Amino acid sequence: MTMAFSKASCQTLIFALLLLCNLRALEAQTPAPAPGLSYTFYRTTCPNLETIVRQQLQTVFASDIGQAAGLLRLHFHDCFVQGCDASVLLDGSASGPSEKDAPPNLTLRAQAFVIIENLRRLVHNACNRTVSCADITALAARDAVFLSGGPNYSIPLGRRDGLTFATVNVTLANLPPPTANASFILESLSTKGFTPTDVVSLSGGHTIGIGHCGSFSNRIFPSRDPSMDQTFFNNLRLTCPTNTSNNTTVLDIRSPNVFDNKYYVDLMNRQGLFTSDQDLYTDSRTRTIVTNFAVNQTLSYQNFINAMIKMGQLNVLTGTQGEIRANCSRRNSNDLFILPNMERDQDEKVASY
Ligand code: HEM
Ligand SMILES: *[C@@H]1O[C@H](CO)[C@@H](O)[C@H](O)[C@H]1NC(C)=O
Ligand SMILES: *[C@@H]1O[C@H](CO)[C@@H](O)[C@H](O)[C@H]1NC(C)=O
Ligand SMILES: *[C@@H]1O[C@H](CO)[C@@H](O)[C@H](O)[C@H]1NC(C)=O
Ligand SMILES: *[C@@H]1O[C@H](CO)[C@@H](O)[C@H](O)[C@H]1NC(C)=O
Ligand SMILES: *[C@@H]1O[C@H](CO)[C@@H](O)[C@H](O)[C@H]1NC(C)=O
Ligand SMILES: *[C@@H]1O[C@H](CO)[C@@H](O)[C@H](O)[C@H]1NC(C)=O
Ligand SMILES: *[C@@H]1O[C@H](CO)[C@@H](O)[C@H](O)[C@H]1NC(C)=O
Ligand SMILES: *[C@@H]1O[C@H](CO)[C@@H](O)[C@H](O)[C@H]1NC(C)=O
Ligand SMILES: *[C@@H]1O[C@H](CO)[C@@H](O)[C@H](O)[C@H]1NC(C)=O
Ligand SMILES: *[C@@H]1O[C@H](CO)[C@@H](O)[C@H](O)[C@H]1NC(C)=O
Repeated sequence: MTMAFSKASCQTLIFALLLLCNLRALEAQTPAPAPGLSYTFYRTTCPNLETIVRQQLQTVFASDIGQAAGLLRLHFHDCFVQGCDASVLLDGSASGPSEKDAPPNLTLRAQAFVIIENLRRLVHNACNRTVSCADITALAARDAVFLSGGPNYSIPLGRRDGLTFATVNVTLANLPPPTANASFILESLSTKGFTPTDVVSLSGGHTIGIGHCGSFSNRIFPSRDPSMDQTFFNNLRLTCPTNTSNNTTVLDIRSPNVFDNKYYVDLMNRQGLFTSDQDLYTDSRTRTIVTNFAVNQTLSYQNFINAMIKMGQLNVLTGTQGEIRANCSRRNSNDLFILPNMERDQDEKVASY
């Protein structure tokens, strides 16, 4: 059988294929589990793990939904700095609650660390020391999304906890500042394997939670960033009267405590809070992605889930690497004898802070 196409129908066909390809770019496949991780990792060792975490967080969020944002950001900071190994939880880590000198843009909610340690205790009471703090952190972020009104999804498990944490400089080098433009963010995140679609998807985490004046003062002092809506600017100046104000405001003015796609609607209305947010709508490489997510929540969720699974597998420790901590804020004490040199190194790092 022969197939004959006219030039016109060929062009139509090519156009249709191109359209399909464009949509395909936003229809990324769910990433496969990294070697050593699996969706059924604790099926026999801790079958009630996910129920325990979700029920506890339901209780926690019922009294303060703001904690959901704190837990989501905690997982992001953990994964971007030296991989998802719970190193962010160790006493002395740059983003940790004990780091009084950390820049405000790094400071995570102190309560997030308490919530994770409480979850660890509940989980270990039920299953002994089989579940890592890194997995508990990943599950808490996943549940923060769902319990704030976002999608319900599964994540691969089996992460192990790291033995060391990053220096302040390494931490700062791995977390782009909120003053960065889209070019900087795209470049920075591409080094971790993220596509522009991933970048826009992950930034959608800013649909919940708050930021301090210092994180966006560059956009309101000395004068209004021209990419910011005038009324939005006026209101931010009431919240942050000076360039040293220490107030907070919500990241998503439309639905600050709900995980939805309104963050993207904010950006289209020039009401993104940080430069790193708003510039995703200014930059031609990410603008259409923002628009597509703003008009289709299902699409934004699919891409967010895929990007979160990708982020949640950055440089994970598996198998016999690292350890399973008995206390999320410190290494197991027997490492003192197993790795004396490393312990000395770490003491020096702590001292040099
Ligand atoms: C793309 C680069 C990113 C930058 C530059 C950035 C920057 C920031 C900054 C500066 C804050 C506010 C800190 C403060 O002033 O108190 C913040 C808050 C937050 N970020 Fe990001 N972030 C980024 C990516 C992410 C990702 C990937 C997620 C999670 C998927 C995320 C989730 C959050 C959440 C939930 C909050 C609110 C935290 C709270 O209310 O305690 N961010 N982010
Ligand atoms: C936890 O460990 C104790 C003591 O080793 C053991 O008796 C118990 O069966 C373990 N529990 C679970 C759920 O594995
Ligand atoms: C969430 O998804 C899991 C499977 O991934 C399912 O077992 C659970 O029932 C779902 N929960 C809700 C409330 O939809
Ligand atoms: C950290 O970075 C700053 C500025 O880039 C530099 O001056 C300082 O020496 C670095 N500190 C360490 C311990 O590497
Ligand atoms: C935080 O602010 C400091 C200046 O205080 C800046 O050097 C750093 O790049 C910022 N980092 C992040 C992650 O926002
Ligand atoms: C983005 O920021 C970098 C510095 O971080 C700057 O060199 C570059 O010119 C900026 N790009 C645009 C398009 O504003
Ligand atoms: C903090 O922001 C609120 C809400 O905009 C505002 O009413 C209040 O005056 C601000 N506080 C300070 C100390 O600027
Ligand atoms: C704040 O503004 C004053 C002038 O109004 C300026 O001298 C100072 O450098 C600014 N500080 C910051 C942190 O931007
Ligand atoms: C800023 O406010 C926070 C509470 O939101 C407080 O913990 C912190 O100490 C304040 N920082 C300064 C410099 O006043
Ligand atoms: C929204 O996105 C979903 C998922 O990609 C797709 O199936 C659906 O057709 C889209 N809806 C519209 C109205 O375009
Ligand atoms: C966990 O370790 C910290 C010190 O890093 C300590 O303050 C805390 O009491 C420990 N928690 C438990 C339950 O042992």
